[in-house]
Order: sequence, then structure tokens, then C-alpha cells
Amino acid sequence: MTISEKSGTTFWQCPSNIALIKYWGKYPGQLPANPSLSMTLNTSVTKMKIDYEFDSRLDSPEISLLFNHQAAPRFEERIIKYLPSIFDILPAIRHCRLHILTENTFPHSAGIASSASGMGALALNLYEINANITGISEPEADKWKKISELARLASGSASRSIYGEWVTWGKIDRLPETSDLYASPLNTGIHSEFLSLRDFIIIVDKTEKKVSSSAGHALMNNHPYAACRYASARKNISDLIDILAAGDVEQFIQIVENEALTLHALMMQSTPSYLLLKPDTLRIIELIQDFREQNKIPLCFTLDAGPNIHLLFHENVEKKVMVLLKEISDLCSKIEILKDGIGQGPQTLSKS
Ligand code: PMV
Repeated sequence: MTISEKSGTTFWQCPSNIALIKYWGKYPGQLPANPSLSMTLNTSVTKMKIDYEFDSRLDSPEISLLFNHQAAPRFEERIIKYLPSIFDILPAIRHCRLHILTENTFPHSAGIASSASGMGALALNLYEINANITGISEPEADKWKKISELARLASGSASRSIYGEWVTWGKIDRLPETSDLYASPLNTGIHSEFLSLRDFIIIVDKTEKKVSSSAGHALMNNHPYAACRYASARKNISDLIDILAAGDVEQFIQIVENEALTLHALMMQSTPSYLLLKPDTLRIIELIQDFREQNKIPLCFTLDAGPNIHLLFHENVEKKVMVLLKEISDLCSKIEILKDGIGQGPQTLSKS
């Protein structure tokens, strides 16, 4: 390996994303059982800075990590376990000391999955470190595919955070550019109805969930409804791609809410079964659906693997949505709301 630069600093910001067609179930090598489709967020981001130093005497990387200015041993262990899986792709990393400083713009333990933004930010930094040390530069398209692949190996949903706006991950037969190995920006056209979507994240419960996403994915092996779920996800993603291009808001709402409830139904039907929804989740879902019905305002909800609600709507109706938020806060006094929306993807902060 020729060495161009022995030490330096990289600094990346990577957003979180919310899946509308859910990835739930995987095969060895972190390969998805079905393709997924997400919207990249704007303000819920991880900012990660890495000071690196190349030392050819090291045979495995040495790392130190501070998360929100504090030690985070579990996050550090996860990274230590992950790094050997990428030595083939980024050979210089094996011989590095990495001092990682990372923080999220969304509150710590807000119940929002931070692995998509956190592992996305890690992949972006590691790719740049390897490129700086080896002096290797690749064509842009190959570079982003590789970063998405690196992110996927750390956390499946992180593969999608590497691009802005609407992103798919997993092979979709009609889209030749898609792959199970990395995410791809959706390039089939987005109607103006869906160009400026807002996502208000309603935090119902901040406590750590009882069953992790990895355990949830594992429960899809031998799940009685797995095959039919994977088939319906394939149909839903293909339909949603057409709906996004055509601007059919009613169909959008139908598929997005169905996907959210299906995710939780799969958890309830796993063996052992489990439930991540809280009473307030259900109360809020009912309020959203009644408000939509009574006021004829197109908005809908989706859920991640937890009790919190993502309220999706076009920015044009934001004022009207404030009335709904007041109703929600009156009924559920303990909630917090993070105002987010569609975002443009990662950016380097090292030049700012
Ligand atoms: O990337 P993971 O292993 O945290 O799994 C994410 C699973 C969901 O968030 C529930 C859905 C998705 O596609 O993001």
C-alpha cells in the first residue's frame, strides 16, 4: 500500500431516515429479505469527527470514542466488532488509530433510531480516511455505492442515509441500478405533492425498547408470515414508486400506514411475540385518522420499530397541522415533538 498522508481529520454530518416501505428480516451478510424505500431527514443528524493516524505496525485499529462528550462503551464495542468486516474494502483502516467524537442533533435517548445516521456518518468518515491515506480516488458513482455498502454492513437502514430525499435499498426487478448490497437514489420521478414533505416526530416514550431491531430481524426467520410479508413488501414498493411519480396522495396514505401497522403486526406474531406500541401511540393514531377524515387534510403516520409516531404531511398544510398537534398535546401531555422534514443527504463539515 502506498501511503500519501499519515494523519489528519475527517468530519461528516449524516442524516437519519424514515422508511416508508420497511426493511424487516434479513439474510446473512446483512442482506435484506425485501427492498425498502425511505425519506432522508433534514435536522435529525449525526455529526462525527475522526482524528486518524496511520501506523503500519498496528494489525488492528485502535479506537477511542466520545458520544455527546461522554464515554459510550456499547457504541465503541459495536464499532470494534464492525471494523474487521470492512478491512477488504478499506485496507488502510486496519492500521489506524481513530479518535472519534460524535454527537446527534436529536436528544439523546429520544427513542429515535440513531444507528442510521451514526453508522452512515462512520462509513463516510472511514471512506475518506482510507482515501486520504492511500491516495486512491474513484469515480463519484462508485464512491457513493461503496460508502452505502460500508454503511449497510454496519446497519442496514444506514445504507439509505448516504443519499438525500427518496432512497431505495435492495434489488427491485424493474430498477436495474438497485442492489441488495447498497442503496440507490430513487430516480423514477417525484410529483410535487411529495417534494416538500414534513415529518414531525412525536416522541411518545423515550425508554430503550425491550427488543432490539437485530433481535426483531432475527425473529423473521421461521416467522409464519415471512414469505407473504416479503411478497407484499415487493408489491408495495413497486406501487409506491408509481404513486410517488403520479402524486396520488390517497394511495400514498393507504400504503404508508399499512406498512407501519404491518411492521408492528409482524412483531406481535413473532415467537416469542412482543409489542412496542404504547397506549398513547394508539390514541395519537386515532386522532390523526379522525383529523384527516373530518378536515380532509392529507396527512398520515408511519412508525419505526418503536412507539413513536412520524407524522407526514406537505409543508403547505403545516399551519392546519398545528391544530392537530394541539389536540394531541392536550390528550397526551408527556409527548415531545421534533420538527423535521425531507433532507438533502450527508455533507462534509471539514471545510466549514
Ligand atoms: O437497520 P436496522 O437493523 O436498525 O433495521 C431497521 C428496521 C426499521 O427501522 C424498522 C425499518 C427500516 O427499514 O428502517
